[in-house]
Amino acid sequence: MLITFEGIDGAGKSTQVTKLKRHLEELGREVMTLREPGGTPVAEQIRELLLESRNDITPVGELLLFAASRAELAQRVILPALESGTDVILDRFFDSTTAYQGYGRGLDLDMLAEINRIASCGLSPDVTFFLDLTPEDALMRKFSEKSLPLAFESEELDRMENSGLDFYRRVRSGYHAIGAENPDRFVTLDALLSPAEIHREIVAKLDALFAKS
Ligand code: TYD
Repeated sequence: MLITFEGIDGAGKSTQVTKLKRHLEELGREVMTLREPGGTPVAEQIRELLLESRNDITPVGELLLFAASRAELAQRVILPALESGTDVILDRFFDSTTAYQGYGRGLDLDMLAEINRIASCGLSPDVTFFLDLTPEDALMRKFSEKSLPLAFESEELDRMENSGLDFYRRVRSGYHAIGAENPDRFVTLDALLSPAEIHREIVAKLDALFAKS
């Protein structure tokens, strides 16, 4: 099973990925967790290029770098893992590209869908958990974690995080649009609930999916 997590930066995805991995392992399943961009030696180098705040990258350049990282990860790691029966939990997948490069940067959505399809080797998530919160709440969380004064541009933030509040508003509404178009796989969760409550909702959804399969 391919399970993806999505959300704007600071939504609490990594906590839920860890909890879900433990839960699935307790059920006796083999589980691999990965995060994008990155996950292979080349994809990790692409990650550094993308997140280094001093790098000035065009929107199309950014799109193709995220796609290149995904192509490496999908072909070399995700496909073989799924073929061997391992569950893969992915912290971000192509919905991030649609939300950030499509809705956030304003790139053409049809062109993007084609690039997403190619980069993902045709893979699509069985279920996507979207942790939803406002950009204001997300950035506030991030700043309090890093003990920074609240300002939407800072050298302490990575290149993507420095994109500003309006960018994050567009990204969030992009996720809402993706959810409306993919009701079968897309599960929206309130990221302001406690981590334990969010985990319970995720487990309930997966139990229902397992019962069907
Ligand atoms: P990361 O530190 O992994 O952020 P997070 O913990 O929020 O997942 O950085 C990844 C950044 O890259 C994040 O800002 C989202 C962005 N991103 C895109 O813009 N497009 C993509 O296709 C992906 C996978 C990530």
